[in-house]
Amino acid sequence: MLQTENPQHPAHTAVDSYSGYCGLPPLVGLHSMREATKTGLTVAESLARLKRLHWSLRRLHRVFVLRITSMPIYELKMAFSLHAHYCIEHVGEIAARVREMRQPPYGLEVSPHASLDLFFDEILAAPSAEALLLGLYEYAVPAIVRALEHLIADTNRLFDHPTYRVCRLTLVEMQDVQQYGVEAVRCLVAEKNRAELKEWLTLLEGMLASAGDLDGTEKPAGETFARYYSKQPYKYDPVPRRDARFQDPYNMGVNAEAMLFNPDIQPLPKTIMLYFKRLREIDVPEMIASILAETDQKPWRYYRDMTRQLWDEARHAMMGEIGFVSMGIDWSSIPFNFTWSLGLNTILTAKERHAVLYLIEQGLMAKKAGKEYEWEVGVATADPLTAIIQDYDWADEVLHAKIGRDWLVPEIGSQSEAMAFGDEAWSKVLVDWKKWKEDGLTEHRSWWPDIYLAACRHWGVEPDPQLLAYDTTYENMRADLKEVAF
Ligand SMILES: [Fe+2]
Ligand SMILES: [Fe+2]
Repeated sequence: MLQTENPQHPAHTAVDSYSGYCGLPPLVGLHSMREATKTGLTVAESLARLKRLHWSLRRLHRVFVLRITSMPIYELKMAFSLHAHYCIEHVGEIAARVREMRQPPYGLEVSPHASLDLFFDEILAAPSAEALLLGLYEYAVPAIVRALEHLIADTNRLFDHPTYRVCRLTLVEMQDVQQYGVEAVRCLVAEKNRAELKEWLTLLEGMLASAGDLDGTEKPAGETFARYYSKQPYKYDPVPRRDARFQDPYNMGVNAEAMLFNPDIQPLPKTIMLYFKRLREIDVPEMIASILAETDQKPWRYYRDMTRQLWDEARHAMMGEIGFVSMGIDWSSIPFNFTWSLGLNTILTAKERHAVLYLIEQGLMAKKAGKEYEWEVGVATADPLTAIIQDYDWADEVLHAKIGRDWLVPEIGSQSEAMAFGDEAWSKVLVDWKKWKEDGLTEHRSWWPDIYLAACRHWGVEPDPQLLAYDTTYENMRADLKEVAF
């Protein structure tokens, strides 16, 4: 780091009194001249810190992704989706800056410190939601925020401007993550939990100290630690879990698509099916997380694109949540089945899952039974909220179809081969409608009449008796309206 010069020297005053033309801020306002002369890290110093941030954000991204599927609490599933998206976006930006800094080989694939890896292994293996929240939001994220703040303060904003800029933009989002994390801990972690986890939390702190803090700016304590929760290597859990508000998860008693795409039915009641389909998309992040968990050796852009899609699908679920709340409907009285993510995650390979996703999303591009049609229904309901939700949902799905074309099609060969592969894979995941009923997993209770009546009260309209009696299920029809083959 740069040294402070001698304050007795005459040049010292010149530096302080220096001004731009007509008093314009010197150095485009990035630094005062005084700051510019005394602030700075060498390329090697800046690079070393960036590499640690890069590695840590990569590790943190993976923790968020791997814990989405089995995280029962809906809000945390959604938050992990957003936080994973932030992490992986900044991984790419930091890596790009590292590549500009004249020091090949880049070393981005190498762990900067064994204790840092142990630290993230431990958080990944946290045995409960409470431990996970504390590890993520009281240790990992604050350490990243700290490292960004230090790098911003220590580097020269002019000499190392690209680093300064990347760190500043990253900091904005990581501070949001931290703020959410503080709330999550406040709402979900009791003092009792914290006390029970004290030994482990002290270890986490020790691991960071042993690495010289996350960014290596402290003197490494050098202490080595035995594994605690990560003694058993962490194994990704592909089984989706939901909190108590999600009841009757095998229920496939109301076929949303059969009503939605029936041109003889009026648009307004279809609002319910649109919101149902959106909130049901909670199963897509649960499934995409499993693809990411079980796919390695891909370039960063793959993980960025797939995580973006994962986060978009989480947003779609929350669009449905917004829709129901706006109508005063308690969405927890509607069963949102988890059988799609459960089946795909436990029966198919990661490549097959991706192909099913691709097949579905290509189907959504169809004019008459796809996203454009859903948007038209949204507009026709005359409810601006439904219209805007479908407007963005459609835009997102166009991007998702492209992500599939970019990554899956080249892996399989051609568009038609990818579709055929997806179709075959999907048919392996049987909707065992009758068996689930026989086994007592569900009654396939129809939730439609109650919700339709509640919606009619909200709209101030008389229920249509014929529509109230709607009883098409998923017994014989897949969600893409293809008949289920037994
Ligand atoms: Fe979606
Ligand atoms: Fe999508």
